[in-house]
Amino acid sequence: MCGIFGIVTEEEQALGPILIEAGRWLSYRGYDTVGCATFHKDQTIDLRKDVGKIDEVASRLNFAEMTGSRGVLQLRWATFGVPSQVNAQPHLDSDGDMVGAHNGNVVNNLELRQQFIQEGMTVRSMNDGETCVHAVERYVHRGYDTLQAIRCAYQDLEGDYAFVIGRAGERELYAIKKGSGLVAGVGEGFTCISSDLPSILPLTRQIIRINDGEIVTLHPNRIELHRVSDGERIERLPQTITESMESAQKGGYPHFMLKEIHEQPTVAGEMLRLIEKSDDVKQLVERMASARHLYLIGCGTSYHACLLGSIYMAQIAGIPAIPVLAPQFIAQYAPAVGPEDVGLFVSQSGETKDVLNAIHVAQQRGMRVLGMVNVIGSTLTQVSEHYLPLACGYEISVPATKTFTNQAIAFLFLALRLAHRPTQQLSEQIPALMKLTLEQISPQIQQIEPLLIAQNDLYCLGYGLTYPIALEGALKLKEITYAHCEGMLSTEFKHGPLSAVYDDFPVIFVCAPQDIPLIVSGVNEVVCRGGRAIVIGPDDHRLRINAHHLITLPQMEAEISALLSVLPLQLLSYHLSLARGFDPDFPRNLSKTLTVD
Ligand code: AGP
Repeated sequence: MCGIFGIVTEEEQALGPILIEAGRWLSYRGYDTVGCATFHKDQTIDLRKDVGKIDEVASRLNFAEMTGSRGVLQLRWATFGVPSQVNAQPHLDSDGDMVGAHNGNVVNNLELRQQFIQEGMTVRSMNDGETCVHAVERYVHRGYDTLQAIRCAYQDLEGDYAFVIGRAGERELYAIKKGSGLVAGVGEGFTCISSDLPSILPLTRQIIRINDGEIVTLHPNRIELHRVSDGERIERLPQTITESMESAQKGGYPHFMLKEIHEQPTVAGEMLRLIEKSDDVKQLVERMASARHLYLIGCGTSYHACLLGSIYMAQIAGIPAIPVLAPQFIAQYAPAVGPEDVGLFVSQSGETKDVLNAIHVAQQRGMRVLGMVNVIGSTLTQVSEHYLPLACGYEISVPATKTFTNQAIAFLFLALRLAHRPTQQLSEQIPALMKLTLEQISPQIQQIEPLLIAQNDLYCLGYGLTYPIALEGALKLKEITYAHCEGMLSTEFKHGPLSAVYDDFPVIFVCAPQDIPLIVSGVNEVVCRGGRAIVIGPDDHRLRINAHHLITLPQMEAEISALLSVLPLQLLSYHLSLARGFDPDFPRNLSKTLTVD
């Protein structure tokens, strides 16, 4: 996820302060580099960009002194290509008379770059934002005007993106949307465009929402829309926005956690489309396949993904992968590893000290280090031979949600690749099933919530593929409702913990389709002792007649059903946290990244 902002004014003015302010409002989206470009009166382009946070770079490069009547800003959240000055956005075309920036992922970036180089263009970076600029340049060179060149470029650029672009010698800026967010604003003497509302609302509350396949022309005093498909003009009146700024930053959701739960279908699709064509991920798979012993290493939620990943590796690829908590790896396995062994280290932040400690020991033993990580440019990406980018964008809420599901989906992808089975179907299947699941479970969760609000003790049980999901659900419930919820293998419950059950004691079971008979046994062991059995699983009569409550998931294959059974647990923990009077985004005692031992 990145952030773009563009503005066109009637008069030449100090645009720097406006661009800096817009960047601050977009910075919650996460960024590794930031850049600004303005067009001077003589139509030369003033381009300033570097690695770092908005205020640091703005001060170092004097953004505040930038002037003009057209300005573009971009905050980069690196997905592919480490954060660097060259990869920072905005980017110039070959001759330096066009400048643009994007948000999103152009999945055919490598192929297009090679074409542009063969066509004689000057390609300076690895970044797909530059590819958007050259895609327009290609058609400008063929004699098209800017609007038509953008229409043609749209067909060449695959993936989810939105970009803004401007040419010397013109008065306008242009923007286009294909999957990523884009919204326009109209004010007194200016028009503007942005990835999302927060950077526009301080300037104007008159906004126009943009749809995929629409090209926006920002004139100094009006906005024009054209359809890519037939080039026709579209009339759309501005609407007045009344929501608060904080609500706008949360995309209209009350909390970042709820926003990030509902972002999961989108970021799952974005990651899958990205890694499907990634050469680096291909080499990561080859390294995994070459391992004498393969270890999946992480902490907290990331460890739960490793646990699920090891089951996928065994069941789909027939590969024994050892999941282990990072500190335990040091004690339990490191003394026995060597250069022929491979560790896939999994971390959303890429900075968790427990994980970095384990990497240090692994490196001392000569072990090959691979990464699965969300924050590109983090230590984990720098020490990994190859890494798989989770491409979730900034996960602000302390409880991990979208990064967990993308980790789990990434493991499913890796297991299929190791089994030499197709993976491209995942990006069609999984986002749609996630959307359907979220729609289907929301009303069901509301019914369960009252049963658990007052509970300070409960269990969450799973089996086989859903055992890691039960552990993850228990962590979510602990983390943000502060209740003691223990995650456990369902068959272990009778070996002792069953004694905890008393009348109405709640036990949650997470059930994959193939384990219904076994879960029914576990449910009856609880119910016959007065406990309250809540099951998450397929809509099956055996579950319906045995459990007190059944939260049903849509029909789907077992591997994906298990993975998506975490969604009800995420939503349940979120609603219970609120009902118990807590802040799910920033729970007590915790922080998002634990860079201490
Ligand atoms: C998960 O909800 C927690 N925030 C925590 O367990 C987290 O998963 C753990 O600290 C690991 O973080 P990482 O993925 O950034 O390494």
